[in-house]
Amino acid sequence: MTDRQLAVVVLAAGKGTRMKSDLPKVLHPILGRTVLGWVLEAARPLDAARVVVVTGHQADEVEASLPESVTTARQVQQRGSGDAVAAALPALEGFTGDVLVVNGDGALFTTETMRAVVEGHQSRGSVATALAIRGDVALPYGRVIRGADDVVDAIVESVDATPEQLAVDELNAGVYCFDADVLRGAVPRLSDDNAKGELYITDLLGIAHGDGGRTLGVVAGGPEELLGINTRLDLAEVEAILRRRILEQHMLNGVTISMPETVLIEPTVTIEPDATILPRTILRGATRVATGALVGPDAGLHDTVVERGAHVDRSVAREARVGEGALVGPWAYLRPNAELRQGAKAGTFVEIKNSVVGENAKVPHLSYVGDATIGEGTNIGAGNITANYRPELGRGKQRTTIGANVRTGSNSVLVAPVTIGDNAWVGAGSIVVQDVPAGALAVARARQTNIEGYAERVMDGATS
Ligand code: UD1
Ligand code: CA
Repeated sequence: MTDRQLAVVVLAAGKGTRMKSDLPKVLHPILGRTVLGWVLEAARPLDAARVVVVTGHQADEVEASLPESVTTARQVQQRGSGDAVAAALPALEGFTGDVLVVNGDGALFTTETMRAVVEGHQSRGSVATALAIRGDVALPYGRVIRGADDVVDAIVESVDATPEQLAVDELNAGVYCFDADVLRGAVPRLSDDNAKGELYITDLLGIAHGDGGRTLGVVAGGPEELLGINTRLDLAEVEAILRRRILEQHMLNGVTISMPETVLIEPTVTIEPDATILPRTILRGATRVATGALVGPDAGLHDTVVERGAHVDRSVAREARVGEGALVGPWAYLRPNAELRQGAKAGTFVEIKNSVVGENAKVPHLSYVGDATIGEGTNIGAGNITANYRPELGRGKQRTTIGANVRTGSNSVLVAPVTIGDNAWVGAGSIVVQDVPAGALAVARARQTNIEGYAERVMDGATS
């Protein structure tokens, strides 16, 4: 790109009626990011001097979703995409250079395509440029009409087009680049004398051309970039394409993904080469998977770190950390601040929250561990519960501290706050309410009483 300054304007004031939603169209989420967020992310590497988002319909909600770095401009009445550009002009006051204008519902626009439009515009001395994508003439998109020397005479909306114009297969995708001064000169001359009675951004090319400026169409991008989001069907189709793009990137980076058509990975997730993702796995947010790790099948991880060689099998985790070589599942649930250290295990039907499970410590079956610290090499018996909620002690949760190499018997309840010393044992079925010294055995259950001859006596009574 030349050293001309660049501003980006994203049009996001439209109503999106066909979504049939209370949520503004551009705020619908796709893979953890809004439709508008995808557009802004694609534009980000262009390093624009200013980024302006035009809001209107449900402007408060849309503006609240935006980062500080973005300027917003309000379009009071939704009188068309041309009027939306007009609304952005005050935010471009004093700006000279080029203005890239992008439809806010184009979640599939790539950085490369946007860059191709800016580069084509700048390198060929254009004053107004549109992205043209070859596509099916049955599609209801604007037609890019070329005259002599490849110059664009006009863009005609399909509803306003003649049969000859409709036969043109260069379709307007909704990405434009304008010289800022030309834009300011042309916008006030837009008219709503057309089929929709709206001010069309697309008419700006015809106006600039009429003024004798060079107006061009840049053919770039793939046919899927034509897909604006107007209905929930479009939303699902766009999601499928974005999902596939992300998976392909990971696979090309050296990640094995089995049955990729069943896997969903958000764009914010990082995965190292030689990690393996098994079917029906969903990875969201700031999740990070290290090399050699195996995730899935049927795993759902959100903001979770999985270290080298760990395995998460058929489990759900949020804001958790699975250490090197640790094992999770099948069917475990790791909640915020659950941390499994190297070689640790959280097995089947185990829930862990705000706790550390020490190196090589194991919680293999049917347990709840909350607000606890478990030392190295400790084994928690099947069906153990840390009773962390003691309302009589206050609103907060109470901690359970378990030392290293402890053995707790099955079906024990550790009533917090309580500490179990290193190498201690807890007898099965114990309800532990007092600290257990290191190396001790705690048995905290009623002693067994055997009543001799009981069955015989009962049966005698029943038959007499
Ligand atoms: C628009 C183009 C069409 C192109 C298609 C590609 C116009 C006139 N037509 O049609 O040539 O083929 O995109 O997807 O632009 N907007 C506002 N305020 C308004 C109206 C619209 O901000 O008053 C915004 C919308 O939020 C949207 C963009 O402008 O991001 C385009 O508007 P939309 O109604 O979606 O236009 P299309 O009919 O899809
Ligand atoms: Ca649209």
